[in-house]
Amino acid sequence: MQNQTSNPIKVISPGRVNLLGEHVDYNDGWVLPIAIDKAVTIEASPAADGLVRIFARDLDEKVAFNLNSLENKRDIDGNPLPGWATYPAGVAWSLQQHGLSVSGVDAVLHSDLPIGAGLSSSAAVEVGFAVLWEALGGWKLDRMTLARYCQQAEVEYVGVNCGLMDQFASANGVAGHALLLDTRTLEWRPVPVPAWTAIVIADSRVKHKLVDSAYNTRHDECSQAVRILQTKYPNITALRDVTPYELHTMLAQMPENVFKRARHIVSECQRVPRAAAMLDVGDSAGFGRLMFETHASLRDDYEVSCRELDILVDLAATIPGCLGARLTGAGFGGSTANLVLEKDADAFMDKLRQGYKKATGFEANIFLCKAEDGARVVE
Ligand code: GLA
Repeated sequence: MQNQTSNPIKVISPGRVNLLGEHVDYNDGWVLPIAIDKAVTIEASPAADGLVRIFARDLDEKVAFNLNSLENKRDIDGNPLPGWATYPAGVAWSLQQHGLSVSGVDAVLHSDLPIGAGLSSSAAVEVGFAVLWEALGGWKLDRMTLARYCQQAEVEYVGVNCGLMDQFASANGVAGHALLLDTRTLEWRPVPVPAWTAIVIADSRVKHKLVDSAYNTRHDECSQAVRILQTKYPNITALRDVTPYELHTMLAQMPENVFKRARHIVSECQRVPRAAAMLDVGDSAGFGRLMFETHASLRDDYEVSCRELDILVDLAATIPGCLGARLTGAGFGGSTANLVLEKDADAFMDKLRQGYKKATGFEANIFLCKAEDGARVVE
């Protein structure tokens, strides 16, 4: 409904943790993220002069940009937009591309989501601003379309060739559930997270440079694998279509790195539907084993792990109550997701914190999270 007054609007937009299905959302595969109870909050009022002014409280930075010249990616003084501001500006641009009205706002942005920790703070910002402009604009989008417009902002405006998972999870979260999304058909369903388990995030606090370019390189390697496979299997359009057998018949035709990237995707596409079926019947131990398998595949074949993430996963595996652990999100630093028996969660977190400090000298940021509802207007 259109906001007829100038009362402030508050939007909460969650981050996400992906439980399984990593790097498959740009290969037409299945993903299994949850929206979490750590979120970006936007408090905003309509601005009569049509400008977007945002104060990023955690960064103590301000930006103002004009909705009539978004293509320039510049603020009202002609300076390039700071990185964080390209997300709301990109969403405004994408909504305009689809003929939706976007109005000026005075907004304060803050977050209890750690930034750059692989928990999709950028998608949370995108989805949060889309929900804000929807509330102000008098138009309504279904949540899948809203997520796709936000993804379009990130790909075409920000320049990261990402898939749909993060924006989808932030927009469609269901409390107490993971979200099984088929990124080809866009069909999805909530899958219950077993009540006796806890999800523990361990942010390594390590951030590697060039994450975006390494991400785009992985994307290109997957496309290269598809082109090579099509010379023998012309009907495939994405790595999701390939069986392990078919992939192995093309081993000699592929550069080694391309073969390894494809092997991760093909194996991950087999794991996710199996894992979701395990959650359906409450097989948390089986699910956890698949998380460890995914980590090994991301480390050895997709090569997106790093020493600190491997240490966190190896340590977790030795701590009582741990069912599964793996890096979550794009990798190259960031966080691990751990599935732990709820009764053991506190002791697990203490041991992981101490073990990581001893092994690396760094303090990990370790905390519990719950599956939450997606982005929403709260007042
Ligand atoms: C990032 C991208 C997602 C997805 C993950 C890896 O978070 O934004 O689309 O590809 O990496 O699974």
